[in-house]
Amino acid sequence: MDKIAVFCGNAHPQLAKDICKYLKVKLSEAFVGRFSEGEIRVKINENVRGKDVFLVQPTSPPTNDNLMELLIIIDALKRSSSQRITAVIPHFGYARQDRKDQPRVPITAKLVANLITTAGANRVLTMDLHAGQIQGFFDIPVDHLFAVGIFIDYLNTLGIKNLVVVSPDVGGIKMARAYAKRLGAGLAIIDKRRISPEKAEAMHILGEVEGKNAVIVDDLIATGGSLIEAVNALKDAGANSIRAAITHGVLSNSAIENINKCASLTELAITDSIPFSEQKKHPRIKVLSVAGLLGEAIRRIHHEESVSSLFD
Ligand code: R5P
Repeated sequence: MDKIAVFCGNAHPQLAKDICKYLKVKLSEAFVGRFSEGEIRVKINENVRGKDVFLVQPTSPPTNDNLMELLIIIDALKRSSSQRITAVIPHFGYARQDRKDQPRVPITAKLVANLITTAGANRVLTMDLHAGQIQGFFDIPVDHLFAVGIFIDYLNTLGIKNLVVVSPDVGGIKMARAYAKRLGAGLAIIDKRRISPEKAEAMHILGEVEGKNAVIVDDLIATGGSLIEAVNALKDAGANSIRAAITHGVLSNSAIENINKCASLTELAITDSIPFSEQKKHPRIKVLSVAGLLGEAIRRIHHEESVSSLFD
């Protein structure tokens, strides 16, 4: 492992440290600060010539700062003669604008993919993309991991019987089906309509939920609006208990307040793909670590081993 170097920006140093712990390597040193007017200033503090470099930086809030840091650190690593740069982006931000679904809107997921490639990344390692086809927006290799195994292991420890996996919208069916298959559970889908970027409304439930223990699965929770709508719809339809397993805990605006008010939600499990601040701590939020999964993928990429078994 002497050719490997793991760096991070300011987005999630703790996850980078946990990944290094798994890999049994030291986190490499870089200065990532600001000039007086706010521009990002970077200096790689060790020799990376000929190194296989992994840069851990989710593009989570503050998304613009974290994205810009990612691009500028990649540029610095490229100009320092790294042999290969892998952008490790546990949460890929700007992914929700992934198609032209109305006139005169951007496709930010494609724009960000172009920026990362232009900056000089040779490959990308990411997890639970908002839409799997975002992989195709990159012309460099993308390893797309799934947190499903981590959540399934956790749910199995709870020993819940009579389960139904619920997708809070039609776009999440594929993900929900993967959970249902692994848990041997039923599948239900909520017909969600988005009224505005901050407000969603649950219309109908497709599938049997009455008397069942429901697990809502999703790629991300931002305001919590989609989740609360889904919880209320499931409660009205007679679900026995309701939990959620959501990979990226963005938890923006009044998400924590919304969860607080939603007594019907037994527990929300998220991962540490995004830093979980003290202010967001909540007795009904459980955080599961993805450091081992990302660390193992990094180890295999470095040794040119297959990572496909990690996709299961
Ligand atoms: C939607 O397609 C996503 O999968 C999430 O359900 C959604 O983005 C979550 O946003 P919010 O928590 O603000 O409803």
